[in-house]
Amino acid sequence: MNELLGKHTAILGSTGAGKSGTVAAVLHSLLERGTEAGLANWKPRIVVLDPHNEYSVAFPGHKKLSTDDGSLVLPYWLLNFSETVALVIGKTEFVATSQANIVKVALLKARVEGAKALGLTPAKITVDSPVPYKLSTFIAAVEADKPPQASKQDSHNSILEKLDVLVRDARVAFMMNEWNGAAQDPFSAILLQLVSDGAQPRIVDLSGVPNEVAGVSSAVIARTLFNLKVWQTADERQNDPVLLVCEEAHRYVPNRGEAQYEAAQEAIRRIAKEGRKYGIGLLLVSQRPSEVEATVLSQCNSWIILRITNDADREHVRAILPDSMAGLTKMLSGLRRQEAIFVGQAAVLPSRILIRSLTPEQLPRSNDIDFDKGWQAAALNDAQLSAIASKWRYQTK
Ligand SMILES: Nc1ncnc2c1ncn2[C@@H]1O[C@H](COP(=O)(O)OP(=O)(O)OP(=O)(O)O)[C@@H](O)[C@H]1O
Ligand SMILES: [Mg+2]
Repeated sequence: MNELLGKHTAILGSTGAGKSGTVAAVLHSLLERGTEAGLANWKPRIVVLDPHNEYSVAFPGHKKLSTDDGSLVLPYWLLNFSETVALVIGKTEFVATSQANIVKVALLKARVEGAKALGLTPAKITVDSPVPYKLSTFIAAVEADKPPQASKQDSHNSILEKLDVLVRDARVAFMMNEWNGAAQDPFSAILLQLVSDGAQPRIVDLSGVPNEVAGVSSAVIARTLFNLKVWQTADERQNDPVLLVCEEAHRYVPNRGEAQYEAAQEAIRRIAKEGRKYGIGLLLVSQRPSEVEATVLSQCNSWIILRITNDADREHVRAILPDSMAGLTKMLSGLRRQEAIFVGQAAVLPSRILIRSLTPEQLPRSNDIDFDKGWQAAALNDAQLSAIASKWRYQTK
């Protein structure tokens, strides 16, 4: 278990091969270990990034953090400088230095104000410090920074417009709700969502988060978990290992340099490289191994590889596996569902294994839609369509 979790593991396979089933099987086994081994205390700490909202049905004791019902709060002030730039400047390949500078100046001003309100030492605050600030202070600082000539205000205006769009978007309310400036520091409450005692696993439902914010959201979660480790004492770290499960890893750590993913790439790459020392393990899941960033995949020390039908992906897997095991990849296209090749430090020997069978209640929600059954039911009526239209328009579930 220590090898599997502590030194990162990748679960790879084509769609429908059983990756999510394998993740659930691993998590169930981890959660059951306390009872099975008769341990007096057993408190696994697991955070699952769940882009399709499929895991919560599989774990009765879970805690769901969702943007739909307000149970997930990742305030804008938690973002560091580069994440804030990603959020308010957006997905352009190239962020002009001048624009980033505007954000930097305003961000520092706003954070200093926040620090004063909370009785923290303003002189010790940087642009990256997770200190609450008011959006209105940030906006005022951008306004104040505008040059007198209207023709030179484009960069400022585009930042303000982007902010305005974000604040109006109901789907992003979990991030954009303004800090109320109350003297009580909200920071530890935010951290408690992810790491406190109690319900496990923590399942972060990212299904309702728009694409452009999904990257930043996963970046903040990964980086927050990592930073928590960095600032813990060595003893605290010993007693608090954390497992981060990244489903559909190719969506957060793609091997392309798109600006909107940069922050997430950075955060997850850092855990892949240094997490072992700090007690934070990665379980990376992907159906497109060739589209996941190579640095991150190559930092994994164990692999559970299910059926892979695509040639490019199989080649890619062959390239990241130790040379002596390259021959195993020949089997990959012929594996049945739930059958896998298990190699790496956590496997005593490279083996062909069968993943334990889970009951329907223990399985992640299948996204398979039954045409046969569906077409025997009545089509949507007017009232149902209006209800859908309303959710669609207001962008809330
Ligand atoms: N361990 C398991 N026990 C029982 N059934 C399983 C198991 N693993 C997979 N299955 C069955 O196979 C189906 C597809 O598996 P799963 O959803 O895990 O595939 P996947 O590789 O995650 O696909 P995708 O890439 O589309 O997410 C499941 O709906 C389930 O019915
Ligand atoms: Mg899946």
